[in-house]
Amino acid sequence: MAERPYIVGNWKMNGTRAMLSEARAIDRAAQRYMKVEVAVAPPYTLIHAVHKEAEQIGIGAQDCHSGAEGAHTGDINASMVADAGAKFVILGHSERRQDHAETNELINAKIESALEAGLRVILCCGESLETRDAGEAESFVLGQLRAALPIFQDPADRLTIAYEPIWAIGTGRTATVEDIAAMHRAIRALLDETFGEDVSAKVRILYGGSVKPDNAREILAVPEVGGALVGGASLSAENFLGIVVGAS
Ligand code: G3H
Repeated sequence: MAERPYIVGNWKMNGTRAMLSEARAIDRAAQRYMKVEVAVAPPYTLIHAVHKEAEQIGIGAQDCHSGAEGAHTGDINASMVADAGAKFVILGHSERRQDHAETNELINAKIESALEAGLRVILCCGESLETRDAGEAESFVLGQLRAALPIFQDPADRLTIAYEPIWAIGTGRTATVEDIAAMHRAIRALLDETFGEDVSAKVRILYGGSVKPDNAREILAVPEVGGALVGGASLSAENFLGIVVGAS
């Protein structure tokens, strides 16, 4: 596990103002686990409200548009989420790649605008079950990352990677610790090669995919794992804090 593990809750398309009490509970409890960096990415509609509640936890967005302000009905860009209180943005999540046909090119444009707006980026990667069964998981994931890594001039401060095998997201099925360790090692080798070992060492690699209080400790004990990107289990303060405890 990393020196300071990073546990990030991705609320996805969940949450109304009723969820603010969960955010408050997470924030208060996080103050007891200062060795763990805790953050949540609420939907756009709650970013500012959660930001106002939070003293300890980091707040992020789940996506941003790649462009500057202008005539794009319904879209929200990087400087707008930063203005609302976000300090990071999750980009390249498989649900965005699938549901919104996001390509590596579009994700790169979003990364550029996020960095320009002063945001940190959690860059997601991960393979489908078909790709894994075909024995191509590693080359696929490294290909996704190779497309984006050169954009980061200052990766130590700005980049976190989240490895999320698509078949483990929201399915209750987690990758084995051996599979997680092997993929994280391959990603680390790519980071070493791209940025040099000193800079690479500062970039945390998170695991995501059905992380829960009862499997968090085992997953987070894998030396290559620097934290977790948590979906479903981040919607309840009790479950999410169970994972934070597993990281402490
Ligand atoms: O961003 C979070 C991941 O997609 C994992 O979601 O914990 O519900 O499987 P999950």
